[in-house]
Amino acid sequence: MSLKKVFEPYFKIGTSVSFFDMKSDKAKEELVKHYSSMTAENEMKPMYMLDKEANLSNPEKYNLQPAMNCDAAGKYLEFAKENNIAMRGHTLAWHNQTPIWFFKEGYQDNPEAPWADRDTMLARMEWFIKSVLTFVQTEYPGVVYAWDVVNEAIEERNEEGWRKRSPWYQTIGEDFVLYAFRFARKYAAEGVKLFYNDYNTFIPFKRDTIIEYILKPLMKEKLIDGLGMQTHLVLNDCNLEEYERALHTFGALGLEIHSTELDIHNPDPSEEGQKKLADAYRDLFKIYVKAKKEGKADIACVTFWGMRDNESWLTGFRKERSYPLLFDDEWAEKDAYRAVIHVPEEV
Ligand code: GLA
Repeated sequence: MSLKKVFEPYFKIGTSVSFFDMKSDKAKEELVKHYSSMTAENEMKPMYMLDKEANLSNPEKYNLQPAMNCDAAGKYLEFAKENNIAMRGHTLAWHNQTPIWFFKEGYQDNPEAPWADRDTMLARMEWFIKSVLTFVQTEYPGVVYAWDVVNEAIEERNEEGWRKRSPWYQTIGEDFVLYAFRFARKYAAEGVKLFYNDYNTFIPFKRDTIIEYILKPLMKEKLIDGLGMQTHLVLNDCNLEEYERALHTFGALGLEIHSTELDIHNPDPSEEGQKKLADAYRDLFKIYVKAKKEGKADIACVTFWGMRDNESWLTGFRKERSYPLLFDDEWAEKDAYRAVIHVPEEV
């Protein structure tokens, strides 16, 4: 049974797609079978879209108009277009996977070099966003339906809320978020939805800070369409009641909600461990389907961060082998898959 067909009445089912997937016929087959949305795991992030060699070799020429290289992204967009899979654009303004030289005076590739000034960074930001959106919309019109304009601007453990170490915050200040959305709105084609995306959005402090610092000001200017709840969860440590509360709280704002990077870290491959994982996925999908049915949140897409266990980033990140997804190393359907596909009948 195809995941995307089972959930068609409710929301899109998406997955992140890696460089390796794009070279594997089996991965492509699974992608086409199960998913109606895809996100490039890396290749549409700023470090892949900026042409390092050109910028560093001629910093004066490119100072306000950074040189771009969209080749890597093109492969994903081409595949999505050919196979009629909608794409989430991920991501435009993020503190990670954006090279440090991009934020430095004269594109100096040195963490000690002075930051570029605010006006320079605003110009670079506008040019970057304009170039990425123009490329995508000219070469592959209609493929990208949503952009994570800003990723992870809020901390959950900092009383101030803002992620102050972010080079975007350091160079522009807290209104970098507002500017990123203004530029994205200016250049996005009609109908393309603009999202703020973050992790642990269900933690009450972080949830409320995101609403006050990010969502409300952007909604006031009609610059934002949706919120991305990344949803990197940990089995045995996920408070799904808190998650549901956050989903409904965000939903009540009238924004579209995407679950953008779903996985549930689980180091236990035993039958029991996999059953627990299946239970957590079942409970979570019930929350999504119920929220949609009852009008508590306009959840429009649920994206897994990876298709099969052995490709998950979690094994590296958690420093222990993880079994967090719906398909095992050999692409076999797991209990979690079976639990999820029956959810629509159970809600
Ligand atoms: C964050 C980013 C993703 C990805 C994951 C880890 O959640 O938004 O693009 O890098 O971290 O892989």
